[in-house]
Amino acid sequence: MKISVAGTGYVGLVTAVCLAERGNNITCLDIDKEKISLMQNGTSPIYEPGLELLMEQNKENITYTTDYMKAYSDAQIIIIGVGTPEKKDGSANLKYVFEVARQIAQTVEQDCIVIVKSTVPVGTNDKVEQIINEHKKYNVTIEVASNPEFLSQGTAVKDTLNATRIVLGVESENAEKLMKEMYKEFDIPFVVTNRRSAEMIKYAANDFLALKISYINEMANLCEIVGANIDDVALGMGMDPRIGNRFLNAGIGYGGSCFPKDTKALHWLASFNDYELKTVKAAIEVNENQKIKLIKKSRKYFDSFNGLSIAVLGLTFKPGTDDLRDAPSLVNIPLMIEDGANVKVWDPVGTENFRRIFPDEINYCKSIEETIVDTDICFIFTEWAEIKSFPLNKYKELMKRPLILDGRNCYSLTEAEDAGLVYESIGRRKVHTLIE
Ligand code: UGA
Repeated sequence: MKISVAGTGYVGLVTAVCLAERGNNITCLDIDKEKISLMQNGTSPIYEPGLELLMEQNKENITYTTDYMKAYSDAQIIIIGVGTPEKKDGSANLKYVFEVARQIAQTVEQDCIVIVKSTVPVGTNDKVEQIINEHKKYNVTIEVASNPEFLSQGTAVKDTLNATRIVLGVESENAEKLMKEMYKEFDIPFVVTNRRSAEMIKYAANDFLALKISYINEMANLCEIVGANIDDVALGMGMDPRIGNRFLNAGIGYGGSCFPKDTKALHWLASFNDYELKTVKAAIEVNENQKIKLIKKSRKYFDSFNGLSIAVLGLTFKPGTDDLRDAPSLVNIPLMIEDGANVKVWDPVGTENFRRIFPDEINYCKSIEETIVDTDICFIFTEWAEIKSFPLNKYKELMKRPLILDGRNCYSLTEAEDAGLVYESIGRRKVHTLIE
C-alpha cells in the first residue's frame, strides 16, 4: 500500500521502516531538513539497534521528504507520528498533531485513512477529524483512526515487528479493512475497538507499567527498613502469572519520553474531568522521590559533597538509547554540582547529548576506569552491560574510597562484599555500615 508517515522520531521512523519491511511503499515526512538529508544518505537520526540496517534493506521502498504536498496528495493511508510533548500543566501539547491534520486537509486529493499513532489524550482523534473536515480542500472522504504503538526505545524494531497486539480504533468497517490490509504481513492479533477506547488503551497500559515500577520501588524502600531483599520479593511475586515477572526491577525510578509524560497527561485529563486518579498520582509522587534516593543514602557517609570527587556511570534513562529525557542523571548531577562536588561522568552513548545541556561544569570521560579513578563516591544511574560486567576489584583499586551507590542493582551483594566495596543498592541489605 502507499503510505505516508508524518514525523520521523521513534514512533514515526520505526513504524515507517517496519511497514516497508512488510511490503508497503512508504514516504517519510519531516520538517527538519537536516534529518531528512541524513536519512536520504542512509543514516538514522535516532540511536536504535537494527534500524539503520532495515532502512538500508528497504531503501527501494522508502522515500524521505520535507514536502508534505508530495507526501499526502495520493497516499492511501497517512500515519501521524509527530511528538506530543508535555505542557507546563502536565497536559499533552497537541499543536504538531493538529498542524499535520490541517496540512492533510489542504492536500489530500483522494479518499484516504488518517491514522493517529502519536500518544494522544482521549478525544483527540475526534478533534483531528473535525479539523480535517473544516479545512478540507477537495471533495474526498478522509477517515480518522487510532492505532497506538507499544514500542520501547532500544528494542523498537523488534517490538514493532513482533508486537503482542495491534490496536485498531475505528469508527467504520472501511477503516478497519484498510488498516488490516496495511498490517496483513505482520501475523499479530488485532484488538478492534472504537477510537476513544484505543486512545485510552495506550495511556492505561503505560500508566499501569509506571505504577508497577513505583509499586516495586516502594516495596524496595520498605524492604530496606524491615530487612528484606527486593530481588527475592520480586522473584516470588513475579512467578505468579497474574502479576508477571517483567517491570519488577527496583531502581531510582522511571524516566524517558513516555512514562513521566503519559502519567502526568492522564492525571491531568482526569482532573480536567473532575476525577482524581489517585493511583497514578501516587506513582508520579513515588517516582519523583525515588529519583533522589541515592543522594539521600549518601548523606549517611557525607554531610555535603563539597570538595568531593564524584564518578557517575550511566546518564541515559535506560540502556540501549542515547535519550536523556527525564533521566535521573538530569536531577542528580546538578544537585551534586550545586553542593560543590567535582563530577566525572561516563556513558557509552549519552555523553554528547549530556554535554549539550551541561557543556562546562562536568568532566566527560572515555572509560569507566578514567571516570572512577581517585573519586570518593561512584553513582550508577543506568544498567549498561559495560557497567554490569566491569570487574568489581577495579573500584577498590582505583577509587580513593570504594563507596558505590548503585541505583540499578547491577551487582550481587556477595560479589560487592567479596571485592571489599562499600556498596549501597536499592531494596537490598547493605554490605558494610562504615567506611574503612
Ligand atoms: C515505554 C513502554 O514500555 C512502551 O510499551 C511504550 O510504547 C513507550 O513507553 C511509549 O509510550 O512510547 P520506553 O519509555 O522506551 O517504553 O522504556 P521502558 O523500557 O518502558 O522503560 C521506561 C523507564 O522505566 C526506564 O527509565 C526504565 O529504567 C524504567 N524501568 C523499567 C524500571 O525502573 N524498572 C523496570 O522494571 C522497568
